[in-house]
Amino acid sequence: MSNWWRVRLGRRPWWMNVLMIICAYAAFVHVPSDFFCTPVARDAEVWFGVTLRGWAAKLTEPLHWLIYLCGAYGFWRMRPWMWPWASLYTWQVAFAVFIWELHAGHWLRAIIGGAVTAAFGGALWRAQAAFDERGVPLRDRYGEWALITGASGGIGAAFARALAREHMSCVLTARREDRLRTLAAELERDYAVSTRVVAVDLAAPGGAEELARAVEDLEISVLVNNAGFGYAGRFERQDAERLQTMLQLNCVAPVLLTKRLLPGMRARGRGAVIITGSAAGAQPVPLNCVYAATKAFDRFLGEGLWAELHGTGVDVLVLEPGPTLTEFQAVSGELAHAGEQPDHVVRVALDALGEQPSVIAGWYNWLRANATRLAPRSLVALAAGKVMGQWIPPEMR
Ligand SMILES: NC(=O)c1ccc[n+]([C@@H]2O[C@H](COP(=O)([O-])OP(=O)(O)OC[C@H]3O[C@@H](n4cnc5c(N)ncnc54)[C@H](OP(=O)(O)O)[C@@H]3O)[C@@H](O)[C@H]2O)c1
Repeated sequence: MSNWWRVRLGRRPWWMNVLMIICAYAAFVHVPSDFFCTPVARDAEVWFGVTLRGWAAKLTEPLHWLIYLCGAYGFWRMRPWMWPWASLYTWQVAFAVFIWELHAGHWLRAIIGGAVTAAFGGALWRAQAAFDERGVPLRDRYGEWALITGASGGIGAAFARALAREHMSCVLTARREDRLRTLAAELERDYAVSTRVVAVDLAAPGGAEELARAVEDLEISVLVNNAGFGYAGRFERQDAERLQTMLQLNCVAPVLLTKRLLPGMRARGRGAVIITGSAAGAQPVPLNCVYAATKAFDRFLGEGLWAELHGTGVDVLVLEPGPTLTEFQAVSGELAHAGEQPDHVVRVALDALGEQPSVIAGWYNWLRANATRLAPRSLVALAAGKVMGQWIPPEMR
């Protein structure tokens, strides 16, 4: 826990931590208690040095509340949109402090209070780069080479393009070599990065080991465990061998690959492991039981590793997409249904990398994945079965 706080507070200079704590206090204690407990007649708010009283104060308080909530969140996550409004707002506060104290006849307090607050505003103005870690290309954050499994299409190909855009060289792997070569040529042409193609069946015994050996001479800094497939249908009707292949690809391969590539990242003190799980891994999914269970495995694997590696410089993220428009539905044997674009899903993942253990793409998927927090598990399982039933051909229901 203390390590968690050390890492969290270590992301910004001490004076920004002070401002964050002030914002959090104002957002969660001071402004709400003022809003709900101070009688209208006694309420007062200061804006740009002008004191509003009574209803004028009460009605403008929600805006203060919003500002401090945004400030607390923006400092906590070091959001790029904090610049420049945080410094402008702090200067406004400095001016207000000055006027307020002067009115009260405390000229020394007006000068010191106003100057100190203005100095914080100035420091914020100069700290633009600190809010813009995403401005640092992933290659500079983690290193040169990324390895993406399942790169011959869908989410994996979108990951490869996004990482190449961040100047990362890419190892592209899947079974369909022709597709990988076409993508490699595109990345080299469009982003001037190096590529390596390794065609391998990760569900075959020794597949993960073969892949690890093929990249032994490279420093893999970002590992994207993305290859996977679904298999929809009633459990009794599913083929045992295909289920076993799915377990091998969705669960065993990420464990073995991470086991092989993580030590290099640990030794270098930086790197990232991404695992593509699924929103289906957050709850039981009848008519897709085993697939959902493999993705629950991926989720627990990734979130556990995130905690083990927290503070080591190696970031771990589980990406949990909902329905996404790739070949997944056809391969799973699902009827075609709506979904998100893979590029968007990958953007969500790269934005969350280094920030949190897992991320669900899309608010609707977030609600569905968190349904077990709001309703009994039995109800959620039955409802999930109803949704799944619409997506499955009659012979597999
Ligand atoms: N699309 C969705 O709705 C959705 C939703 C939630 C989670 N996901 C997850 O997202 C990940 C990517 O899926 P996708 O949507 O991009 O589907 P996709 O378009 O079908 O891509 C799957 C990738 O996995 C590779 N792959 C399959 N079997 C393999 C094997 N035995 N060895 C090596 N590579 C293999 C495929 O390449 P080859 O066929 O060339 O080998 C392909 O590149 C999967 O883990 C999936 O579970 C997808």
